[in-house]
Amino acid sequence: MATLDPGTLIDNRYQIMSCVGQGGLGVVYGAQDIRLHRPVAVKFVREEHQSDKQIEKQFFEEAIHTSQVNHQNIVTIHDFGHYQDHPFIVMEFLDGCTLDQLILAHSLHDHAFQSIACQLLEALDTAHRNNLIHGDMQPKNIMVSHSVTTNRYWVKVFDFGLCRILRTDLKQAVDEDNTVVGSIHYMAPEQFQGGNIDRRTDLYSIGVIFYELLCGKLPFDAENVHEWIEKVVFQEPVPLRQHNPDIAEDLETLVMAMIAKNPADRLQTAASARGVFVD
Ligand SMILES: Nc1ncnc2c1ncn2[C@@H]1O[C@H](COP(=O)(O)OP(=O)(O)O)[C@@H](O)[C@H]1O
Ligand SMILES: [Mg+2]
Repeated sequence: MATLDPGTLIDNRYQIMSCVGQGGLGVVYGAQDIRLHRPVAVKFVREEHQSDKQIEKQFFEEAIHTSQVNHQNIVTIHDFGHYQDHPFIVMEFLDGCTLDQLILAHSLHDHAFQSIACQLLEALDTAHRNNLIHGDMQPKNIMVSHSVTTNRYWVKVFDFGLCRILRTDLKQAVDEDNTVVGSIHYMAPEQFQGGNIDRRTDLYSIGVIFYELLCGKLPFDAENVHEWIEKVVFQEPVPLRQHNPDIAEDLETLVMAMIAKNPADRLQTAASARGVFVD
């Protein structure tokens, strides 16, 4: 499917405005729901995946699974369907910038870190209690908005559960292109070893995100994808306070427990991680 022009009407209801983002699987447009008079985001599968019925099936399944979970820090799914045979999902429009853009633009203060961290853990806790595993937690899948007047941060997690598809993409990325791509940084050892993916996999990824938010660095340093994977699977990460001694010891303990290599040694639930933060 060619790029959609502004004004295109999807399903007699969603009027396309502009493309607002792309990922490994999807192209996302900002649109107006002309029936309910509200902004929405419409996600299509990228052109190269459009004829893949398996991807279409998973795309819709994930929309249905995500829509079962009702939480203020998880994107709300409104609808799904086909436009000229191309599958799409309609969801709430998320304002703000993705967490990777925020990390680039600012160094986060304690208040910002605590607020973002707690909301991420609450989103994951709810998702996991509903048997929804994200599988691709990374800053590009987290939208953050900030109110200057109240100095409050608002977090929304999106792009749930498409890990199976994205993992296939990543395998290709590793084989064909030997540079370290963003999403690989947040993947847990078991994702490289063909192990079981469960809620602890999400906790690992969030642990890497916390690590990066707290010290501006990743737990490992590698020249290429193979070295990265080798380190994630076999090497101990640099203790957080070696990068930044100002970080509180209990935060370091938490983050290091979230990125333990063996899922059995890892912090087991988002709720227990959330409990470390005092409101
Ligand atoms: N609901 C939304 N509202 C606004 N922008 C969105 C929304 N969902 C996704 N985006 C933008 O589109 C990009 C790609 O979306 P995503 O769902 O992560 O696709 P993929 O599955 O290909 O990774 C995101 O990084 C974000 O910038
Ligand atoms: Mg994504």
